[in-house]
Amino acid sequence: MLEKINNLLQEVEGLALSTKEQVEEYRIKWLSKKGQITVLFDEFKTVTPEVKRELGQKLNDLKNKAQEKINELKEKFESNSDSTSSSDLDLSLPGDPNISVGSRHPLSIIKNQIIDIFSKIGFTVSEGREIEDDWHNFTALNTPENHPARDMQDTFYVSLNPEMVLRTQTSSVQVHIMEKQKPPIRTISPGRVYRNEAISARAHCQFHQVEGLYIDSNVSFADLKQTLLYFSQEMFGKETQIRLRPSYFPFTEPSAEVDISCTICKGKGCNVCKYTGWVEILGCGMVDPQVLENCSIDPNKFKGFAFGMGIERIAMLKYQVKDLRLFFENDIRFLKQFTSA
Ligand code: DAH
Repeated sequence: MLEKINNLLQEVEGLALSTKEQVEEYRIKWLSKKGQITVLFDEFKTVTPEVKRELGQKLNDLKNKAQEKINELKEKFESNSDSTSSSDLDLSLPGDPNISVGSRHPLSIIKNQIIDIFSKIGFTVSEGREIEDDWHNFTALNTPENHPARDMQDTFYVSLNPEMVLRTQTSSVQVHIMEKQKPPIRTISPGRVYRNEAISARAHCQFHQVEGLYIDSNVSFADLKQTLLYFSQEMFGKETQIRLRPSYFPFTEPSAEVDISCTICKGKGCNVCKYTGWVEILGCGMVDPQVLENCSIDPNKFKGFAFGMGIERIAMLKYQVKDLRLFFENDIRFLKQFTSA
């Protein structure tokens, strides 16, 4: 047994290893439950009392030295593994040119352009909420229950509370603003809206609108028209013309729909404008005095105009996208084609 101990001691002292895995192998070989040193301890129980003292000391010494050696080597490789990998790094290599950078979603690009255009003429940006109460989405906007105009927008009701809806239009933000702020008010409100529509190339159950609201003591229909002409020319090019067609919205009087001269055929007639030379881009009008009153603004002192446009519609015209669904499918081949301004 003494011989075995001495041999092992020699092995321990002379041990030179080169990897963490080898250290683990030796730990198992010597010190695990069935390891050589552990086995020697078992044998030690049977030796005669005369040699017990000397052998016991030697054996303990061997165990301690083996443990120390293992610890020492383990530590060495653990700290080395960091420095080896960092010394393997060549910091002077050029970067990988194939990492592709993401781009903004086309709807975000258009939304930001709309915000930029209106902020140049003093419009601030305000946001409302997507889950809205009946008052802000309908009633305050002159659309009480059973009003036929509610049929214009198929509404998603929040089932637990029929008073709450997913907003069908960003016009609801107008009401919040007028309730909170005193005129003059000049703001646009971009956001997502929801309608219970069958999904097709031209309709979706969720889309985006930008609402505009301008309230002051002396606002006229001419201001509305000029503001929308400015917007259309900034968005679609200086040569763009607009025309206003009389229309109906419950919260504006008079109301109009705005067409721009077709950006594709420049008004000559093509399949995008259905050979009319014009394409519709938004609804607008003078804020109905009753709506001002609903929001505690005195209609004898203040007037205003409002407008609302679909961001998808503007994006489809601007980028000549023929299917609305593409904006929501997250197909990377589609999204890659847009670079953020
Ligand atoms: N809220 C209308 C819609 O979703 C759009 C609209 C029309 C907004 C006329 C307005 C407006 O502010 O004056 O169809």
